[in-house]
Amino acid sequence: MGERGRHVRRAIDNNVDGAAAEMAMRRAIDLTRSTHPHPNPRVGAVILAPDGAMRSSGAHEGPGRPHAERVAIEKGCHPGDTLVVTLEPCDHHGRTPPCTEAIVRAGITKVVIGAVDPDPRVAGRGVDRLRAAGIDVEIGVLGSEVEGTDPGYFHHRRRGRARITLKLAATLDGQVAAIDGTSQWITGDAARRDAHRLRSEHDAVLVGIGTVVADDPDLTDRRPEHVGPQPRPVVVLGRRSLPASSTIGARDPLLYQSEDGVDLAAMAVDLPSHGILSVLVEGGPTLARSLLDAGVVDEIVWYVAGRLAGGTGLPAIGGTFATVSDAIPIDVTSVERIGEDLRLIARIGQG
Ligand SMILES: NC(=O)c1ccc[n+]([C@@H]2O[C@H](COP(=O)([O-])OP(=O)(O)OC[C@H]3O[C@@H](n4cnc5c(N)ncnc54)[C@H](OP(=O)(O)O)[C@@H]3O)[C@@H](O)[C@H]2O)c1
Repeated sequence: MGERGRHVRRAIDNNVDGAAAEMAMRRAIDLTRSTHPHPNPRVGAVILAPDGAMRSSGAHEGPGRPHAERVAIEKGCHPGDTLVVTLEPCDHHGRTPPCTEAIVRAGITKVVIGAVDPDPRVAGRGVDRLRAAGIDVEIGVLGSEVEGTDPGYFHHRRRGRARITLKLAATLDGQVAAIDGTSQWITGDAARRDAHRLRSEHDAVLVGIGTVVADDPDLTDRRPEHVGPQPRPVVVLGRRSLPASSTIGARDPLLYQSEDGVDLAAMAVDLPSHGILSVLVEGGPTLARSLLDAGVVDEIVWYVAGRLAGGTGLPAIGGTFATVSDAIPIDVTSVERIGEDLRLIARIGQG
């Protein structure tokens, strides 16, 4: 019997079929989309009655707030029900008691999990506890979708630092600004809207002080459909200070400053203590170079504008290209046309 066959078979034993469990997982994933619980994970949960009907649902809203499983169980759950949850239930006492206890006490007989929780305090212990209590546990239903809705969380718990995406908008010949410093707008409306969407998907937007001084950006998602909090501005500074009049100054910017050069690897480890698990970099060539040298760029989103600059402006990535072996290999995962421009996504390192 194939994996899918086994999956359906087990589900029939529990009276909730595979299609109902998958539909419930989709619903649980959707519930997480409007939440901002970092540094905690985005988690959604759905309770299904034995006939597959949805009985209740819940999502985790942030540190100190009840976990998604508890929200759903408290809203409505009967013995013999199935719990469908995006992330493995916890089995440890944090700010709230273990979810495994609540699940066992509620008389749930089957738990369908999207992804195992990579947090070292959980990492399979939740699954073990549920199985030890005689509960049927199924793992990996829509697992990659679950990880895709919260890449910062999975990255942080596996690698111990924030996930960093470097966004660049350059002409076809790789220039991000002209000699006179002008760079707005190299790409067209559609690419700019797409970049605003990207901002919403990250906890923070990072720039160097050079970009603040040159452009005074506000680094918010200004699409009319934006809901929820804006990403927090983070600025790396060397000798210069943040101008008092800068637009982001009013948005509680997080500043990392050192005249000797900020240790960007240490910054990536520190950011989660501020609730920042995912960062979009919109700085200039100097910061892009520093981040690449520090080995902390996980993904690149490169908007290639349908324009040619010619001559010598400002290259997307600073520094000197001394010899060809210095080139950093990247793994291009997607190329898409966005309006009159192209969007190229690439992974670096273990991404
Ligand atoms: N098209 C695009 O996608 C795009 C995006 C952003 C910016 N730009 C353009 O890029 C130009 C600005 O370039 P830029 O390279 O000056 O901007 P930047 O990289 O945002 O800022 C550079 C400054 O940040 C500080 N910095 C960077 N890394 C540091 C580290 N590890 N430790 C301490 N300080 C660090 C330094 O400040 P100190 O001087 O204080 O030492 C450095 O001079 C502007 O013309 C802007 O319009 C284009």
